[in-house]
Amino acid sequence: MMARSEIVGRPFLCDGWRVHEFAVANSTNLLAAKLPAWEAVRADRQTAGRGRFDRGWVSDEGGLWLSAVVPTGPNAAETRALPLAVGLAVCDALQSIGLQQFRLRWPNDVLVENRKLAGLLLDQFVPELAVAGIGINVSNHPEIHDPALKNQTARLADLLAAPPDLRRLTQIVLGHLRRVVHQMQAGGFTSLLPRINLLWGGPRRVQLDLDGELRLGTFTGVGQEGELALLSDGGQKTTYHPWQVRQLQEIH
Ligand code: BTN
Repeated sequence: MMARSEIVGRPFLCDGWRVHEFAVANSTNLLAAKLPAWEAVRADRQTAGRGRFDRGWVSDEGGLWLSAVVPTGPNAAETRALPLAVGLAVCDALQSIGLQQFRLRWPNDVLVENRKLAGLLLDQFVPELAVAGIGINVSNHPEIHDPALKNQTARLADLLAAPPDLRRLTQIVLGHLRRVVHQMQAGGFTSLLPRINLLWGGPRRVQLDLDGELRLGTFTGVGQEGELALLSDGGQKTTYHPWQVRQLQEIH
């Protein structure tokens, strides 16, 4: 169903993108569903922000709630790897504004220490186009809206002396996203892998929740289609795709 949404002003152009801004949307991913490639939607707040595996996503005022439509082309393997590529672009953007201590936890959570700074949700509503939903906590207060998030989230306002305003942050993120997508189109997903693997680093002990079934092991890297390679304590190597893993826990 279409959002009850309030559009703000006219779309603006940046780095080859056309950006539509809303005061309120149910979910920017749903508003972006009908847009062509290289268009994006930003909302000041979302009333039904969506997270991975049908979880909700608290989207109060002050955060960046952005959805960008990117062309995927017919290559199914690269489409599957896109969440990692979008995560890389968000990390590039965060680095460019001076953030230093963060990591990209497979497949696409951006963490500061053990708190979540950003989350990504990729949707495909029509063939050959993906909607990359990007949520970054900036100066919002997610824990006020969901007390369970207390001490679970990080915000740019607490990490940088002067985070960019939301429109500027939108431009920065979209600029990096376009560059990463072009790099992927030119050199394939594997051309991004060295940088992606550096952002989480390893080896790391992890526990995977495969919809109820738990797997414990050591993460040994991201593979050519964005899959996670897990080495079990018995020495067996298995790979998992993002949609197979409901939750990943780092074991410290
Ligand atoms: C997750 O970590 O579970 C993914 C969260 C993704 C949130 C963003 S905010 C912009 C876009 N619109 C949504 O409804 N969700 C994504």
